[in-house]
Amino acid sequence: MVSVPLGLLLLAVVSGLGNSYDLRGSKAHESPEERAWAVLKKMTLDEKIQLMQGVKGKYIGNVRGISRLNIPDIRMHDGPQGFRVTKTTGPEGSSTCWPSALSVAATWDSNPDGLMFQWADAMAQEFKGKGANVMLGPGVGIARVPTAGRNFEYLCGEEPTIGAKLVAPMIKGIHKNGIMGCIKHWVNNEIETDRMQVSANVTERTRFELYYPPFEAAVQAGVLTAMCSYNRIGGEHACQNPKTLNEIHQQLGYKGFIMSDWGATHSTVQSINSGLDQELPVAEHFSNDNVDKAINDGEVNPEQIDDAALRILSSLFKSGLVDTPVVGDTHAVVTSPEHTALARTLAAEATVLLKNEGAVLPIVPESDFPPNVSRRGILVVGDADTFTGTGSGRVIPEHYVTPTEGIRNAIKDMGLSDTVPVTYLPAGISGRANFDDIERAAAIQAAKEAGLVVVVVATSSGEGHDRPTLSLGALQDSLVTDMLKAAGSGSESAKVCVSVNAPGAVLLPWASQVPALLLQWLPGQEWGNALADVLFGKVNPSARLHVTMPNKDNEVAFTSKQFPGIPNLGQEFPTADYSENLFIGYRYYEAMEISPVFSFGHGLSFSHFTYGKLTVEREGGSFQVHTTVTNNGKSAGKETAQLYVRFPTPSEQGARYPASVGAAPPRALKAFVKTSVLKPGEMTKVTFNIDANRDMSVYDSPSHQWAHVGGSFVFEVGASSVDIRAKVTVNP
Ligand code: BGC
Repeated sequence: MVSVPLGLLLLAVVSGLGNSYDLRGSKAHESPEERAWAVLKKMTLDEKIQLMQGVKGKYIGNVRGISRLNIPDIRMHDGPQGFRVTKTTGPEGSSTCWPSALSVAATWDSNPDGLMFQWADAMAQEFKGKGANVMLGPGVGIARVPTAGRNFEYLCGEEPTIGAKLVAPMIKGIHKNGIMGCIKHWVNNEIETDRMQVSANVTERTRFELYYPPFEAAVQAGVLTAMCSYNRIGGEHACQNPKTLNEIHQQLGYKGFIMSDWGATHSTVQSINSGLDQELPVAEHFSNDNVDKAINDGEVNPEQIDDAALRILSSLFKSGLVDTPVVGDTHAVVTSPEHTALARTLAAEATVLLKNEGAVLPIVPESDFPPNVSRRGILVVGDADTFTGTGSGRVIPEHYVTPTEGIRNAIKDMGLSDTVPVTYLPAGISGRANFDDIERAAAIQAAKEAGLVVVVVATSSGEGHDRPTLSLGALQDSLVTDMLKAAGSGSESAKVCVSVNAPGAVLLPWASQVPALLLQWLPGQEWGNALADVLFGKVNPSARLHVTMPNKDNEVAFTSKQFPGIPNLGQEFPTADYSENLFIGYRYYEAMEISPVFSFGHGLSFSHFTYGKLTVEREGGSFQVHTTVTNNGKSAGKETAQLYVRFPTPSEQGARYPASVGAAPPRALKAFVKTSVLKPGEMTKVTFNIDANRDMSVYDSPSHQWAHVGGSFVFEVGASSVDIRAKVTVNP
């Protein structure tokens, strides 16, 4: 007898040879839904329930497949910043610690094959290499509360349009690798304080206009899994909330399955009947006993179980995972020099140049690598630890590059190691209280002698806690001012650049005194190299603020009813009223005429760009707005062009709003375009697409529909929310 090696046999099954065809339950040319139906018909009730149950396993989330029907195991893993190595998926350092999602989002690069796509593609390769077939991300929550602990894990900043435009190339990049992304957390999971209990009270209009668009864009991009959140909405837990779970399917058109956040399932009957498909990490409410009982008691219709199993099965077919299962190895080393290089590019491209008075930056050897710097060297002071956030999104790399290492690497690459000394001093912010004063005094002395002082200040955040303050703290703030003073008081003034590393909005009380100011957003393992790339001009910054930089804590004047929420009479859980409705972030600043320290959309380049006239083309109900962008500076660079829409005021002649809407929505970003690299003098055409069904409409709650608004709209195009270069009035 000829023995057939198991590997070949498996290959035959996987590749559709022999009777494996029948085993899959349907023919490959049928639609994924038809194939899912065909498989469902062959399944027992227990097998269907099995698909709804998380079990313990090697990955963060594990669901057993149905091997007799060739339905693969579902292996889920965190998260939005890269593959989070755990004890069972080691070795430590085997995956790339990418910049945070908020970092990469600061690139505003929504191009189909741009940075978001490249990042998602590379990250998905690592998940696949580790054998995971679901990436528990992207996260698309909105930075409603500036201090919220998980803002760094999300793509949106304050603006749903950013999340909506960036999520599509991300989903495409993940799917390219034959694994599934998971959009999270559905929904209104904007704070960490009391996150398991708090109820978000949000009007239907606000949900649809402000919080749903990034999820809707992910649905349109074909996302196949979604995670419901820990919090309540309108008093009901997200994972058993009939309203919001219905809205994602019925109104946003989502066809994939919904898994619970880890431990966010609170019932059997109500959860299943509301549309929760999977309980993670392990089935308690969805145990066989509980589900069988619910069916036998007539509280759950077996069709609900069929629906859940069908949504899971059709996602598996659509993703290609049934035909091409992922065969990775939990212990594989999936990071690579290519991914490290991409992590560096992403972090550098996400660095926002907030200020550059007197063109302090870039420091380039051929022009002004100042004799000053060569002779007197570079001093780096401050934080050397804060490259990432904490919680389920944390990835520990084998090594991360500190700012000093990055600067030393750059100096070495320039062949200047022998001539330009680079010194690092913790400067009293290392946390070792007894040494603070001595360290600070040493740093002050060194700053008087250095040619260039790079001051690094940082703060982080993480899952489970909101930041107590947006402040960097007195020690770090005084470090900046001490360094500015010392650098100016030596025998020759030193150049000073302050580099801030933050998980979102941060207070910069000394900003007006600082000549050169850079902002990074928990940039991951390539932190220092990326910083050096910008400092020395290898990368010309083009990132933009997606959050407003405030003058003080709680400048948006939230009452405790809004954040973190207070208990209502007779309720055992706190309620956070979203009574600001649409007026979060820059929308609030504009409405209240408050000037922040740096406005939404702001970010400088080493070059400068001019904008041409606007021309508008109407296409059905939508508009294309064209302009040109010309690089009028001396260095090559990219521009991030932005279009804001101003709605007509309801009292204005010709304005038409549904009766439910009394006031115009705030002016808001509706489109943006990241150009390719433009050489000095080069011009490019830029087109913004405005979809009247969303961008010039409001959500009419009584009819549960979007409604067009009539009247004169103004399209404002520019380089930030406050740097508008051209306007045009249109009537839909
Ligand atoms: C987080 C999710 C994460 C899950 C699994 C939860 O605490 O909220 O975002 O995917 O844990 O680690």
